[in-house]
Amino acid sequence: MRERKPLFPKLPRLLHGADYNPEQWMHMPDIWDEDMRLMRLAKTNVMAIGMFSWSSLEPREGQFEFGWLDETMDKMYRNGVYTILATPSGARPPWLAKKYPEVLRVRPERVRNLFGTRHNHCYTSPVYREKVRIINTLLAERYQDHPGLLLWHISNEYGGECHCGLCQNAFRLWLQNKYGNDLDRLNKAWYTTFWSHTYSDWEEIESPSPIGEFKLQGLQLDWKRFVTDQSTDFMIREIEPLKRLAPDIPVTTNFMSMCIINYERMAEHVDLVSWDSYPRWHDRGPDWHTACRTAFVHDRYRSLKDGQPFLLMESTPSMTNWQEVAKLKRPGMHALSSIQAVAHGSDSVQYFQWRKSRGASEKLHGAVVDHSGHEHTRVFRDVAEVGACLERLETIAGTFVPAEIALIYDIENGWAVEGAEGPRKPNLSYEQEVLRHYEPFWKLGIPADVLPMDRPLDGYKLVVAPMLYMVKPGTAERLESFVRSGGTLVLTYWSGIVDENDLVFLGGFPGPLRRLTGVWAEELDALYPEDRNSIGMKGPGWEGLTGTYSVSLMCDLIHAETAEVIAEYKEDFYQGYPALTVNRIGEGEVYYIAARAEPAFQDDFYGKLAARCGIKRSVRAEWAEGVNAHVRTDGVRDYIFLHNFTDQEQPVAFKEPLRDLEGTPAGDSAILPPYGYQILTRERE
Ligand code: GLA
Ligand code: ZN
Repeated sequence: MRERKPLFPKLPRLLHGADYNPEQWMHMPDIWDEDMRLMRLAKTNVMAIGMFSWSSLEPREGQFEFGWLDETMDKMYRNGVYTILATPSGARPPWLAKKYPEVLRVRPERVRNLFGTRHNHCYTSPVYREKVRIINTLLAERYQDHPGLLLWHISNEYGGECHCGLCQNAFRLWLQNKYGNDLDRLNKAWYTTFWSHTYSDWEEIESPSPIGEFKLQGLQLDWKRFVTDQSTDFMIREIEPLKRLAPDIPVTTNFMSMCIINYERMAEHVDLVSWDSYPRWHDRGPDWHTACRTAFVHDRYRSLKDGQPFLLMESTPSMTNWQEVAKLKRPGMHALSSIQAVAHGSDSVQYFQWRKSRGASEKLHGAVVDHSGHEHTRVFRDVAEVGACLERLETIAGTFVPAEIALIYDIENGWAVEGAEGPRKPNLSYEQEVLRHYEPFWKLGIPADVLPMDRPLDGYKLVVAPMLYMVKPGTAERLESFVRSGGTLVLTYWSGIVDENDLVFLGGFPGPLRRLTGVWAEELDALYPEDRNSIGMKGPGWEGLTGTYSVSLMCDLIHAETAEVIAEYKEDFYQGYPALTVNRIGEGEVYYIAARAEPAFQDDFYGKLAARCGIKRSVRAEWAEGVNAHVRTDGVRDYIFLHNFTDQEQPVAFKEPLRDLEGTPAGDSAILPPYGYQILTRERE
């Protein structure tokens, strides 16, 4: 069993803080002192500074001003607030863009941007890289021994792409390296004989463009991989001076929930993962949908570093200014969503931003300190309440989530699924597909890790890999050895179609998964959104599963080879074809779900499968829709989080003895207030 391992020896507790931009208030020094008072009042212990401070740090080329930052870090430290220090590369001063236009990004249409906004820079530009190296080195030299420095925050939300000449050249070099300088290999991988696309010189290759090539999936995939590698390379160079001068200070970079970059690759080069979570609470659907999707992203980012706690680097304390309709968080929702992150493995709750800006584009975005400037607001009270709660939960820092399920979510697979022309338009949302298989476990309160397809699977009892359209080399073998040694695997329709280059597997689908599933998928029927087919259980019923379920959108027409048929289609010309099968391999089992089934099927099937695999729920208890439970543990003591994502009181009936944080027995039930939560404990079994 793993042990509790807090992320920061000098601050071994849960972090609470915000993005802090004191340079916006440089001309009003009283505000700086008032901020210190308010930070103590809100029970914060970290602030992230410097994300977009380049023009305050280097107002003119080569002229540096660190005085304001010295003063801020000193003041904060004296007030018990540690610094998460960002490198400023996310936005550059106008002088830099004016003097060195190459630092500005070029769009896919081959038009160079003007100076403006942020994140508008070329990751290849040697000038930009050099300017970033200089300022990062100065920051590291100056603050390496500052007692308040806790963590480096590299840039901000890396993302986007640049199509300039420098990037085109870098892309060609990347391709030459990937294909061993062999253009023929590239031509084969991209299938360029089709439509006379065969390249005869590396110089002929251009990045994808709406005014050029945008239908060659092999090119699209490699371009996205290049953008990931180039951005990662840029980040590695940002990190270099920091690690050289301050080797003991960990680094992170804040991820977004969705991005063109494959953050899995970036995560390999940072010490810890952090991300910015902005769920659309109180939108048109039930809040538990939003909660479930948010939980999925938390789990995904927790899983990128083997389950090590992550940081919730940003969230809004009230509303955003960029969602079409940003409703205020209903009473309770702020604490609930903050504690939800902690339940899923975050060791922090942080906000964008500390004090609301007076001008420019984010002046109307929620902040801890409103324009009114004092603490007598609902939002400030909510934040302070979270601060108090995190203080009480100190011993949770460094605990982990004991997941027995791995859900495969692989962003390259998503690129391929969504980039393919067919089998349906509008194209499929891979994330939605995966979420349909995450939701049943979320409802049951069963923790799951969310992994890319190339991760080790040892130690899991169940692996679910929905829509594994792309199968990368080694994946089928890894899945097979997992199953042979007793694991249970679930695969679905539209799997085993293409290899890592988007070349279709010949010889029958699901390609390299065919032996594992024991089925041959001959054809796939696409249904109109309003169309339905249904599937019915065969024979005595598997695990007592009976009745029929409706299916929609995609129906695989499969033949059972070595697999046993559990359910069959009930309608259309493929009535009687298998719709759910199980194949026994070694000590384990492989299930194949042939069609997109209604949520009732997902709930029933996965509920029974989890029980069959002996998978534990976070807590033995009963609750209604919209309530959720999650667990973290230090190996000896479990922390059970109960969440109510509805606007009604919700009872929870316990089927096992639990205690509250003070050790008092919890009895056999609890009432969760609307948007309320409760944290209980028990000894680990
Ligand atoms: C992102 C950025 C922040 C801020 C927030 C607003 O997460 O990192 O700088 O713009 O969005 O929601
Ligand atoms: Zn570029």
